[in-house]
Amino acid sequence: MSQLVTALLVALTALPIAHAAEKGYTIHFPKGVDGEALEIPEDNPMSAAKVALGKQLYFDPRLSADGTVSCATCHDPAKGWTDQLPVSTGVGGKHGTRNAPTVLNSAFNYMQFWDGRAPSLEAQALGPIENPVEMANTLPKVVAWLNTVPGYRSQFQAVFGGPATADRLAKAIACFERTVYSGNSPYDRYTQDKDKNALTPAARRGLALFEGKARCTQCHVGFDLSDRVFHNLGVGMDKKDPDLGRYTVTHKEKDKGAFKTPILRDLTKTAPYMHDGSVETLEEVIDLYLVGGEDNPWLDPKMKPLDLTDKEKADLLAFLKSLDGDMPLVKAPSLPPAP
Ligand code: HEC
Ligand code: HEC
Repeated sequence: MSQLVTALLVALTALPIAHAAEKGYTIHFPKGVDGEALEIPEDNPMSAAKVALGKQLYFDPRLSADGTVSCATCHDPAKGWTDQLPVSTGVGGKHGTRNAPTVLNSAFNYMQFWDGRAPSLEAQALGPIENPVEMANTLPKVVAWLNTVPGYRSQFQAVFGGPATADRLAKAIACFERTVYSGNSPYDRYTQDKDKNALTPAARRGLALFEGKARCTQCHVGFDLSDRVFHNLGVGMDKKDPDLGRYTVTHKEKDKGAFKTPILRDLTKTAPYMHDGSVETLEEVIDLYLVGGEDNPWLDPKMKPLDLTDKEKADLLAFLKSLDGDMPLVKAPSLPPAP
């Protein structure tokens, strides 16, 4: 059999259902978000009841060791689904070492986290619950507790036909996450509606720079403006014991200090920036690119100093701000009372 046919067969058997709308459930994608690109795992189809359950779990601080921290604490809908902190604060005021990315559009990541260590939203969801600097709980404890809450027990029964398990908990949360998207930004209206006036003249000049002279589209491509793979920009590499990013997963020399390219939506709401939250403003982000990143042995060869005038910098900034979209209006649901 030719290599191509083998590859095709492998692809077909491993193919997840890539439907924008599962039977009986419709996901609403805002303008500019390519619903066709969404892959829903075959063993976790969407349903309204599962989304509703996942939403409660996402907002429930009782899943944490001391009942104070939920997913929404660090991925707060009112803060662009981040915490707007350099690095997150978990149970007991403990600090992690990385900046909380937005959950919006994370359904399109085929690798989750800055270093890509989780392959799916399902695989991602249980991490924070057991992370000692996040929710600091244990899965057996959380699952046992969920099964003591009548309101949760009945929902798990209705959705999954049985009691809460770690796997079902992850599936419900992932299902909810697959419903939250940002789009319909001025940039989306400009590209989708061919509405020239959706972008200001400055933002239009900024877009031309982004795609041209400033070479941002070497990495920030697609409808979310990310190639969703890893690059070393040198951020944080001057520290004594730097975070080696993707390398901690692959142990390949070339991956040292490489982090996943973040999507570029709602940037005015998600400061500070970069995997360690070390860059406070978008102006400073642009300055980092002007000098071609921070020099280190693993710097991505695509990073080269840029020569932009002050006006061009202002235009590029105007473009980045035009990526602010409509936030899904999600409010904390009421939670089932503990027994
Ligand atoms: C204490 C703060 C905190 C809590 C609580 C928390 N997260 Fe996060 N989240 C983070 C940080 C920090 C990262 C990045 C960590 C990394 O890359 O190593 C992250 C990463 C993610 C990502 C990956 C996004 C991407 O673009 O790669 C998703 C999805 C996510 N969290 C969802 C959740 C869910 C679901 C919960 C609840 C079960 C949760 N988080 C709880 C701080 C938190
Ligand atoms: C070589 C690939 C690459 C190129 C070229 C590139 N970026 Fe990035 N960008 C990244 C990566 C990777 C990060 C995260 C780095 C980190 O956290 O260590 C990032 C981070 C950012 C952030 C911060 C987003 C956030 O949520 O933290 C912005 C804004 C940004 N880039 C804009 C741009 C602009 C504007 C250009 C063009 C001048 C550009 N990028 C060129 C890969 C690239």
